[in-house]
Amino acid sequence: MNKKKTKIPRYIITTVSGLESAAEREIKQGITDIKVLTKSSGLLAITTSAKPSTIRRFRFINNAFLCLNEYQETNTTNLLQSVKNVMPHVSDLSRLFEFVPKTFRIVVSHENEIIRPDQAARNQLEHHISQSTKLSLDIHEADIEFWLIIRREGFSFWTIRLTRTRHKTHPGELRPELANMMGTLAHLNKSDVVLDPFCGFGAIPFEIVRNFAIQECIAFDKDPQTIHRIQLTATHERLPIKAQTIDIQQMSLPDRSIDAVITDPPWGMFHQLAEGVDEFYRVMIEQCARVLKTEGRLVLLTGAKEIASKLLNESDQFVIKEQYDILVSGQKAILIVAVRK
Ligand SMILES: C[S@@+](CC[C@H](N)C(=O)[O-])C[C@H]1O[C@@H](n2cnc3c(N)ncnc32)[C@H](O)[C@@H]1O
Repeated sequence: MNKKKTKIPRYIITTVSGLESAAEREIKQGITDIKVLTKSSGLLAITTSAKPSTIRRFRFINNAFLCLNEYQETNTTNLLQSVKNVMPHVSDLSRLFEFVPKTFRIVVSHENEIIRPDQAARNQLEHHISQSTKLSLDIHEADIEFWLIIRREGFSFWTIRLTRTRHKTHPGELRPELANMMGTLAHLNKSDVVLDPFCGFGAIPFEIVRNFAIQECIAFDKDPQTIHRIQLTATHERLPIKAQTIDIQQMSLPDRSIDAVITDPPWGMFHQLAEGVDEFYRVMIEQCARVLKTEGRLVLLTGAKEIASKLLNESDQFVIKEQYDILVSGQKAILIVAVRK
């Protein structure tokens, strides 16, 4: 962690745990006057003159918050008392959201878990916010959310959330922000043909074709049901996705025809891989090496960390460029960016 007690950050940005440095680097490419005041697991506290709308545009972040104050304190009840002294002006809220918010609720995040704080302290704060901002309390569908973010590192932030909840994912489906970071790390170009040979519900292909300029995305999976659903959506939305039911063992794409493979293969933890995890990953890496062009990128997310790293390190066909130890739904995983020789 890098913590300097200077001034109050303007924004708090949360990311997948382990991807904060990658997020920092990418945000700096888009915003030049950014200063990172605090960086810790899955969190960046920054100052910049950039508007909330600019911050919201980075789709690889989990959430962005406007920071109202920072505290060197982690006791929830004390914090709920202290934050009463820091209330936004109603006119500032309208400017932040480009609509006039009418309702609010309070969310308390304690060491990355949403908790229910002491009822009396919360009631008092809710009453105080209603009085000072003229917003009404709505604990279900509020226009704006005040977040008290309490970190295990010993500091806390009182904030307003700028981002909206994105669509709910199916169990096993990748979060769109992680799919977006994978696309970002692949440095895609508009002539690129991208392959996801284990597309599942299609989180990677959909994120890639909707948010990056590429030629097309080829989406394979051995499960015909998920492929059928992807085909329907792709046709309906006229997306450049070619989805097909194909087992990686039978993948017959031409050699050296793909610019980037971006994929989240089975981890071998939740469903047994008949041939064993080592053999499965060996075949997968061999197939990726076969179809990728020279300088083609492989962006691989997996919980089979040791096996994937070992096979790629030993491979004389790839050079590992970047490697991130991350947490995906509480599970340790690795995100590897490798380049085909
Ligand atoms: C971790 S999931 C991918 C999840 C996906 N990224 C999503 O967001 O839904 C792995 C996928 O690999 C598929 N799969 C497993 N073995 C396969 C094989 N031999 N060939 C092709 N696909 C396979 C599974 O059906 C599953 O959809």
